[in-house]
Amino acid sequence: MHHPIRFSLRLATVLFAAPTACFAAPITWARDVMPIVQERCLECHRPDQVGPFSLTTYEQARPWAKSMKQQVASRKMPPYPGNPGGIEFHGDMNLSQAEIDTIVGWVDQGAAFGNKADLPPEKNFETFEGGWRLGEPDLVLQTAEPFTVSGEISDLYQCFLIPLGLDYDVWLKGVEFQAGNNEVAHHFILFEDMGGTFPSLDDASPEPGCECADMDKIAGARIVKMWAPGNVSPLRGEGIGNKLTAGKNLILQAHFYNSTGIDQVDQSRIALHVAGPDETIDKRIRLQLVSQMMLDIPAGNPHVDHEMQIQAMKDMTLYSVGGHMHLRGKSIGQWAVLPDSAEEIVMLDIPEYDFNWQLDYVFEEPWKAPKGTKFIMRSVHDNSAENPVNPDPSLNVKWGLYSKDEMAFTGHYYTFDDEKLGITPEAIRPEDVARLNGANIESD
Ligand code: HEC
Repeated sequence: MHHPIRFSLRLATVLFAAPTACFAAPITWARDVMPIVQERCLECHRPDQVGPFSLTTYEQARPWAKSMKQQVASRKMPPYPGNPGGIEFHGDMNLSQAEIDTIVGWVDQGAAFGNKADLPPEKNFETFEGGWRLGEPDLVLQTAEPFTVSGEISDLYQCFLIPLGLDYDVWLKGVEFQAGNNEVAHHFILFEDMGGTFPSLDDASPEPGCECADMDKIAGARIVKMWAPGNVSPLRGEGIGNKLTAGKNLILQAHFYNSTGIDQVDQSRIALHVAGPDETIDKRIRLQLVSQMMLDIPAGNPHVDHEMQIQAMKDMTLYSVGGHMHLRGKSIGQWAVLPDSAEEIVMLDIPEYDFNWQLDYVFEEPWKAPKGTKFIMRSVHDNSAENPVNPDPSLNVKWGLYSKDEMAFTGHYYTFDDEKLGITPEAIRPEDVARLNGANIESD
């Protein structure tokens, strides 16, 4: 007799539980999904942004429901490969498990609209004239001529010279990028041409700018700022700036990826924000790399790890961290060990490195690294044929600038705590703004 009773009790539980689950209001777009989409997707998936379609309304989103489920469940969307460990990132785009469950549940239940009254108020993306997000820029630079990305090429690195021609230093507070053509602009890196050799290369090629997949063309250039779609870093805090040296030019390296099969035209823009004389610059932002150059990556090997360690020579404050490898990159991260501790703190963990989404991960709060702090970079390369983007699994690979070579470094932007420059910076002079604003990125 025991069994039937137990059975029926269990059945009763199931019977009572099931209706509750059903009657628990079904997941709807209006009440449950739209607020998540507003916060996590619309940055890119609204008109004129990098996302290939808009998710602003139910009508726009509904045909994508199944794909949305797949993309969020696999954590491919939002495209944010870095997992914060011990340190919180500003604007972390990772979805929480509850958010993923809501979107997945919504699709599984039939992707209903729900009640109009439940819709959250429309999200207002604050922009300044010209669509900029960081405030009104001090200077906008744009390629002088549109550049055509041929439909016959899928992958192209093109470097454009930006002849600033300022005869005084300026202190950058921030840089914002605007792709001219979201179909093809994959990422940008802004360099300062410290060596000054780039203009002659540029002159030697007939089209605007010159092809520069191989970084030796811009050897000696200093990275000012990297950009991937959707990545807007906040302005630097009070008293901190990135020095642009008088007389130096800038180089904009664009990675175009044309999968459309037709010629695409791009004319991208960047906006500079600089410190004015009302601010005293005490600290210069610098970039420190934790770089392993002794790479040894045998042909066909699916898992080759490397490590590198450096130490903080002085007390430092860190603002952001990022990682860089080429196409065989599988995972990369940076860890820190404080001088009085054995514990490894995760600064950045990119378990599935994606060459196309190289972000500068900005810390929510600047992070203090006392003298003696160890920074550890760990990387894994996949040089097997299973790696779908591997340019050639039959090569033994070493460090190099070319895309057939590899790299492995993490890097952080930092300042020295004892630095006190006391500089009164000069804003960009009105005659220079007049000369440079709008269209100045040189073309031949
Ligand atoms: C930082 C910008 C960005 C954010 C934020 C973002 N997306 Fe995307 N999304 C893209 C881009 C760009 C593509 C085009 C594919 C690519 O380049 O990887 C894309 C593609 C997609 C696709 C099509 C994938 C395919 O290949 O069929 C879906 C579905 C999608 N996104 C859903 C979402 C959802 C849902 C969210 C929010 C939870 C989101 N995305 C957030 C930029 C973004």
